[in-house]
Parts: sequence; structure tokens; C-alpha cells
Amino acid sequence: MNTKTVVPAELSGAVTVPGDKSISQRVAMLASLADGTSKVTGYLNGEDARSTLSAMEQMGAKAEFRDGALFITGVAGKLRSPDEPLNMGNSGTGTRLLAGLVAGAGIEVTMIGDDSLSSRPMGRIRQPLELMGAHIGLTGEKGTLPMVICGGKLQGIGYLLPMASAQVKSCVLLAGLYAAGKTTVIEPRPTRDHTEKLFQALEIPIKIDGLEISIEGFGPEGPKYKARDFTVPGDFSSASFWIVAVAVRPGAELLIEHVGLNPRRTALLDVMKRMGADIEITVTEEKGDPYGTIKVRGASLQGTVIEGDEIPNLIDELPIISVAGALAEGQTIIRDAAELRVKESDRIAEMVKNLRQFGVDVEEKEDGMIVTGPAVLKTPDAVIDSHGDHRIAMSVAILNTFGTGPIAIENVGCVDTSYPEFWEHMEQLGGKSE
Ligand code: S3P
Repeated sequence: MNTKTVVPAELSGAVTVPGDKSISQRVAMLASLADGTSKVTGYLNGEDARSTLSAMEQMGAKAEFRDGALFITGVAGKLRSPDEPLNMGNSGTGTRLLAGLVAGAGIEVTMIGDDSLSSRPMGRIRQPLELMGAHIGLTGEKGTLPMVICGGKLQGIGYLLPMASAQVKSCVLLAGLYAAGKTTVIEPRPTRDHTEKLFQALEIPIKIDGLEISIEGFGPEGPKYKARDFTVPGDFSSASFWIVAVAVRPGAELLIEHVGLNPRRTALLDVMKRMGADIEITVTEEKGDPYGTIKVRGASLQGTVIEGDEIPNLIDELPIISVAGALAEGQTIIRDAAELRVKESDRIAEMVKNLRQFGVDVEEKEDGMIVTGPAVLKTPDAVIDSHGDHRIAMSVAILNTFGTGPIAIENVGCVDTSYPEFWEHMEQLGGKSE
């Protein structure tokens, strides 16, 4: 069924969230290029991570799930042209990063995706890749998929990113692997640095100087590095749904272990703490991409302002932050977040519409919203449609755990892109959906 009915419930308890989507997809790409076999523990068994892995298999990598792990045998820098278009499903990360990875690999690749992905802007990666010498055709109406990449010989560039985007940054750095000379990107604001951390782990020559990141290219012959094993921590973005669900409910408690704690991903914790949340973090592993344990005890929260440098480090959490805002006392102001309009859906418009259906006082802004709480929630008159956006579906489900009656959410199949166990975990924490 592509519809779920969610009933109000008090969520509390312990949960282990599935592997990080951003890290899983980067590991799939980099292990597939390596020389030898990598054992990957904790790889996300979600659709986005699977479509990226399948794409790498279509270009010559071998992947096998056995003994609770994923084994990837790489092509030692030598990708081959896939026989069929790569179907990237819903994955913006897979598409944008892979475009960079294959741009200088001397192969021809076509990428397609679902309706949501096919409406997302790809000009932002075509521009730097063409500056490096790649041939990128975007045959969709507005600089969108399908995308055709015909391998060109790439030259390293210096590129000032026009927007704070880890996907564009990573795309250019991955293209830099096959380029001649040095490729440098400069970010306007810090964004998630999983690509950089994996380059370091694989001993790929990368230099990080504040917001300036450089990589020495291996040239058209492709990168040469040895395979290694990887452990993917739980996805902080998936954990954020439970963190908010518990943090705003006095008396509730939550324990999440082995979850990613990369500071470029966890700005939601700073926001929640500012709002008055009782959250305790223990870092278990600091090296590489850090992970550890999060404990939350529910409390009454107050509104806050979320803007500026904080935005890229909680960009995927803004829908659930707007839910926290609805339940907190006073105004929660989100600004500088216009990028939300070009995610899996227009997340500003969708959340504003959905919050209003629940009776929440919310004002839409071009680059964010102002939510005034605490709302006296009502049961929406109409069915809620996720419009194929996983984070909208999960945010609305969490909101209705505070609701007044059952609600139906349509088009929830998209939850499987990042968090197939979401509904099961909701029940584990005392919720109910059917
Ligand atoms: C991602 C980066 C972010 C984020 C997306 C995953 C990544 O996108 O919203 O879900 O894995 O690099 P942008 O970099 O385009 O903001």
C-alpha cells in the first residue's frame, strides 16, 4: 500500500537507525573505483543507495551482500560504458556525484530518474564540469534529466561554488580524480564533508584549507588506490525524526546508538538545545566520520531563529524542525533556506501547506518560513500527500503522533529511499501506523 494511516501516540524508547545515505552512496562510488575488494558494514538498504550501487555495477564493479555486509570489488580506475541508461531513481546525490565521477572516465553514460529527480536542477553541475572539459547534455526541458555524459579529457579548475552545496562540491572533487592537474573548490559556507573524509581514508591526495579544498588529479588513466573496509554509521537525518518526536514531549525518552555525529550534519542538535531540549551526546569514534550515542529527554521547547551558516548543516532536517516549531512556544524563524525549494519537492511550500492543514500558524517566506506555536492541532480535513518526498512523509507522520485523530498520508513509498524501517521503528517506539 502506498498510503499509511498514522494515529496519535507517545513515542519513547530505543532505536538504531539505518546507515547514512550520503556516506553509503559515496562509499559505493569510491569502493567501486578502488583496486581490490572492500567490505562495507552498515550500508543503507534503501532505494537511493541501491540505485547508486547498481549504477556502479553497470559500469563494471561487482557487489555482493553476504554475511551481513556488502562486498564491493572495484575496477581499479577503469570504468566501462554501461549498456543501458543508469536509472538513478529518486537520488539527487547519486546523480550529481556520479556525473562528476564519470565525466573524465572516457565513457558514455546516460542518467535518468523518477519524476521528482527529473524536475531537479542539473545546470549547477554541468557548469563546472564543462569548465573542466566534459561534454554534458541535459535533454530535459529546464536543464534537467535525462543527462548524457560523453567522456572528455578533463583539466583541473579553480571553482568558487555559487551555492552552498555538498553535492556540487563533491561532483567537482570526484571529476578532479580523472583530471590533469589540480582541482580546487571554494565553498561559500561549510557543507557536509563526507567526500573529503573518504578521500583522506583512501589516501587520495586532498588538501583542506578552511573552505578551500584541492585534489591532485590522477589524469585520464584514473585514480589508483587500494580498497579498504568501511563502516557506515546510522543516518543522523533519519535519527532526527525521533529526536524531535521525543524532545518536544515532556516525559518521553530516547536512546540512539551508533549514529553519525559529523558536526557538518548535526546542527539540528544545536537548534534543539537552543529551543530548550535536553540532549546528551557521547562520541564513540572521533576518527573519520564520527559516530556515537544520542540520549534525549522530552521537555517544553521555545522557538528560535535558524539562518546563515547553520542552514547547510541541517538542510535535510528543516521539515522536521518546522514540526518542532509548531509544537514549541513562540516563533520559530527559518531563513536563508531557499535551496529547500529544489529538494525532492518544494519543501517550503509543502510543509507550509501541510502545517496549515493541521491548524498551525505558519507564514511562508521565499527562503523559509515563520512558525508560531504552540499549535492547537486539528485533524486535517483532506488526505495528506507526500508528493513523493520521503522527508515530508516522515515529518507529517511525526506531527500526527501529537495529533487529535488518525490521518492518512498518501504516496509513502518514497520513505524507502532513505528509511525503509521507518514505520516498523515507529511501532517499536510505541507509535501505530497501518
Ligand atoms: C547531500 C547534500 C545535500 C542534501 C542531500 C544530500 C549529499 O544536498 O540536501 O540530501 O549527500 O551531498 P545539497 O548539497 O544539494 O544541498
